[in-house]
Amino acid sequence: MNVERVRSSFPILSKKINGSTLVYFDNSATTHKPVQVIDSVSQFYCQWNSNIHRGIHYLSEKATEMYESSRESVREFIGAENSSEIIFTRGTTEAINMVATCFGAVNVSEGDEIIISEMEHHSNLVPWQVLCKQKKATLKVIPITDNGILRADLLLSLITQKTKLIAITMVSNVLGTVNPVNAIIKTAHSFNIPVVLDAAQCIQHTKIDVKELDCDFVAFSGHKMYAQTGIGVLYGKKKWLDTISAYQYGGGMISSVDLFSTEFCSPPNKFEAGTPNISGALSLKAAIDFLNDIGLNSIEQHEKNLMEYATQKLMELEHITIYGPQTNRTGALSFNIDGISSYDVAALLDRMAIAVRSGTHCAQPLMKRLGIKNCIRASFALYNTNQEIDLFIQGIKRVLNLLT
Ligand code: ALA
Repeated sequence: MNVERVRSSFPILSKKINGSTLVYFDNSATTHKPVQVIDSVSQFYCQWNSNIHRGIHYLSEKATEMYESSRESVREFIGAENSSEIIFTRGTTEAINMVATCFGAVNVSEGDEIIISEMEHHSNLVPWQVLCKQKKATLKVIPITDNGILRADLLLSLITQKTKLIAITMVSNVLGTVNPVNAIIKTAHSFNIPVVLDAAQCIQHTKIDVKELDCDFVAFSGHKMYAQTGIGVLYGKKKWLDTISAYQYGGGMISSVDLFSTEFCSPPNKFEAGTPNISGALSLKAAIDFLNDIGLNSIEQHEKNLMEYATQKLMELEHITIYGPQTNRTGALSFNIDGISSYDVAALLDRMAIAVRSGTHCAQPLMKRLGIKNCIRASFALYNTNQEIDLFIQGIKRVLNLLT
């Protein structure tokens, strides 16, 4: 993979902040956008802007065709059987809320159980918590080890006849832990329990094949895979999408309406009420084309190398505690400097134009489990380099000199 060539597609990477070139290690929060993605949005508004699925005029038909071709791109990218299994959402959060609301409405009742894990970020936790409260169901939690590894061996002991669904992240947004979702799906399916995968931290660097995984639902965000914000995907198996409730009601999801009754469209339109984020969907197609051109295998290997290099360099420093497993981790490297607030570290790094995230990373229960209030997270993307990691390590050394 030619990183310099890849970097040249990202205008923001040459930006100076406080006189220094940006080192951007906050990719788990959102990635930057290549010109191919930016151009796809501007071209849509300059040349094709129109509403979809409504008009018979030239622009409307063209916009509809482009939007549906983006859906087809997503289908191909994740290996789904049919593009009707691809629903455009605002992002991972809305996709998971959609499953909680629509699956929950018809499949979860008082006394039922839903299983999540202790490392979920809020988007794959709060919707289930709220659903359980509404339905008087019980939320059960797969614990993790002190090293942030999922105790998947305990799953069997949590499953009962009342278990209605398992929702689990493929990769932790804080620890980078890669979860054994294949085995979890096999176990769940042996009890006819469907599985929701949160792929937000995985989709941008790991090949996902939903047919091979045999998962029931998958959620991910465009903005974490180089596309625009405000666009995401819910993949759902046809048998579920046909039988669960609709999410919102209104134009775009109906086939006929009279004053007192309505017939709804089939999936995916059933779940896409109102005018959708058309340019967002196009930007997602552009991002997929961009990723495919480089190749997910090369991206995965490059990010693995970055993670190994950064972990090794960080471990050479004193006063550092790294969280999460030593191996089988991807994307995110979280740590603290003994006795120093993560916010102070991030603020000092920011002065050197190094962007990391500090705080609880939308995963407060995980912070509690790790026995910390917050931490610093460096997260990597395909355009990052070892030279940037060297600058980051120099920055951490300066922080250590200043504050310890
Ligand atoms: N969930 C996102 C993160 O991990 C926003 O930063």
